[in-house]
Amino acid sequence: MRQVEVAVIGTGWCGGIRAESLAKSALVDKLHICEIKPERLKEVEALTNPASATLDYQDIVSNPNIEVVYISTTPEGSHYPIARDCLKAGKHVLLEKPIALELWEADELITLAKRNRLKFTIGYSQRFNSKIAYAKKSVAEGKLGKVVNVMVSRHLSRNLGAKIANRVKLSPVAMESTHDLDFVFWLLAPAKPVKVYSQGAYGYMKDLNGSYDCMWSTVTMDDGTLVVVGGGWNLPPSYPNYCGTWIEITGTEGALILDDTSRDNWLNTVKDGTQYPMSTMPGEHVDHMFAGQMGPETIHFLESVLLDREPMVAPEHARMVMESYLGADISAETGEPVGLPLSNHSLSKLADMKAAL
Ligand SMILES: NC(=O)c1ccc[n+]([C@@H]2O[C@H](COP(=O)([O-])OP(=O)(O)OC[C@H]3O[C@@H](n4cnc5c(N)ncnc54)[C@H](O)[C@@H]3O)[C@@H](O)[C@H]2O)c1
Repeated sequence: MRQVEVAVIGTGWCGGIRAESLAKSALVDKLHICEIKPERLKEVEALTNPASATLDYQDIVSNPNIEVVYISTTPEGSHYPIARDCLKAGKHVLLEKPIALELWEADELITLAKRNRLKFTIGYSQRFNSKIAYAKKSVAEGKLGKVVNVMVSRHLSRNLGAKIANRVKLSPVAMESTHDLDFVFWLLAPAKPVKVYSQGAYGYMKDLNGSYDCMWSTVTMDDGTLVVVGGGWNLPPSYPNYCGTWIEITGTEGALILDDTSRDNWLNTVKDGTQYPMSTMPGEHVDHMFAGQMGPETIHFLESVLLDREPMVAPEHARMVMESYLGADISAETGEPVGLPLSNHSLSKLADMKAAL
């Protein structure tokens, strides 16, 4: 098979994982990395031995040999301009969630990709979680009959909330439950969300950036299926970036309960006390293995480009997810259910809420 030149822009936590996965792949001809923090650039350079390492992403954009770009930058406001420049330059793009901060930005990225016939996907890594893949298969095969209700409860450690609070004010539903809205809508397709009602509760995060610790959202689908997703960052900081998730899917013919709390791996050391290794949302490299979803997801996108196959996550789907969590944000603010797709009235409420930030 043909090999390609690839680049990762933003080699922090997730970008570092992606760069390491690509450095190990036989599908990669040359790896290029870009990071604005010189010390982090050096670290990832030592780890991945790239063909080039730069502080300026325009070096990636202007290099005609680079076909595929992974964008893993923060703060999240950087996603749209960098993705736009890469798509305009004819690169295939995997962009971490969120697709954008504004719906018009998401629309522009989708149009650019379509117009230039480029693969464009969003890093909803949970699609590559084997438990969630099993849920999709079970629903598709009709094992559960007609799905009646899906419940997802996802809690992360508060040090992750604190990291996010330092860079952006995006709510728990926009930053964390977004993964669950994505995969639940995928499970339930072709049903579409028509209404969302959400409530948030304050705790540890309020003093950091005014955010809720947790939000719970109820989404009604157009076939009547009820989706309830809750998520946030109020677990004690016992293990960095720990994530525990519990999923219940009930249908007319069966139920599927998935324990994704990662309490099956328990490490206790004198120095650090109890930890739950391999329990973060992206997962981690463990010598010759990748424990989790981001490694396989990274290679899947490369294969989608090389084999001209559609990537797992369509950007239009990511946009539908975005509209749903924005609806949840409006609902939590107003205390009222919000219809989906968003009406002009809801969009103007959203603009008011952003202006007041
Ligand atoms: N799929 C998942 O499971 C998952 C998990 C965590 C985070 N994420 C998403 O991935 C993204 C990255 O998160 P993270 O935790 O890795 O963040 P991070 O802060 O650890 O890394 C981001 C890096 O981007 C760099 N950067 C910023 N602007 C840049 C630019 N113009 N050019 C080059 N580098 C630049 C920063 O210096 C930083 O090192 C976030 O948007 C987040 O929403 C996804």
